[in-house]
Amino acid sequence: MDTVLRIAIDGPSGSGKSTIAKIVADKLGLEYIDTGSMYRAIAFKVSKKIKEQNFTGENFHLDDFLNENISNILDDTDIDFKEGNVYLDGQLLGNEIRVDEISILASEIAQFENVRKKLVDFQREIASKNSVVMDGRDIATNVIKDAEVKIFLTASVEERAMRRYKQLLEQGQDLVYEEIYDDIKHRDINDKTRKLNPLRPAKDSKILDTTGLTIEEVVAIIENEVKLWQKSNRLGQ
Ligand code: DC
Repeated sequence: MDTVLRIAIDGPSGSGKSTIAKIVADKLGLEYIDTGSMYRAIAFKVSKKIKEQNFTGENFHLDDFLNENISNILDDTDIDFKEGNVYLDGQLLGNEIRVDEISILASEIAQFENVRKKLVDFQREIASKNSVVMDGRDIATNVIKDAEVKIFLTASVEERAMRRYKQLLEQGQDLVYEEIYDDIKHRDINDKTRKLNPLRPAKDSKILDTTGLTIEEVVAIIENEVKLWQKSNRLGQ
């Protein structure tokens, strides 16, 4: 594809962003960029540092630890993203960043200005060189404000918690639905209320409530948005 096409897909945890974004990218031959994995990679490094230093129990305060250490950790951290995968200091990361501990820690470290700056600069660099489907929380409102297509996926907390619960059950994990529900709610509050680039749709985002829709239906709606953009782009030339 010669024309630049950047599709921004934002939405809360469990709204199906990455599944949908990956399929759309494959179908249209675009690069898929999962920005959440970059926040998770930094959270993974932070978690390693906390464990290395044996910080546990009542006397450990995450906020204090982050305020004191996040700058040094960032200076010493290299994040890369190639072919759909995130690399931390040259090492490929996989499912170790998908566990609940890292999900919660990622939404905590994402509130820090220096974390966001490092990752947003990197994401903008990628988007300046490639046609992409980029998913996250602030892609349309901050990272690529002039993206050609902007989608904001939503679904009720109950639906998102139930999808996650079923997914984990299928993987053989034994979990309590209420705990997953509380986790998602907690991350929603962090993501929506943080001062810097909170989760919200851009004025020109297409808001798509995926409650009750299949993956194929959501993908078809996004493909249609792309077609509409292509049509208006051709007419405008
Ligand atoms: O999409 P995800 O669940 O993998 O993202 C993990 C966390 O990273 C999420 O709770 C908030 C943060 N994040 C962000 O602040 N901005 C983004 N563009 C992507 C993720």
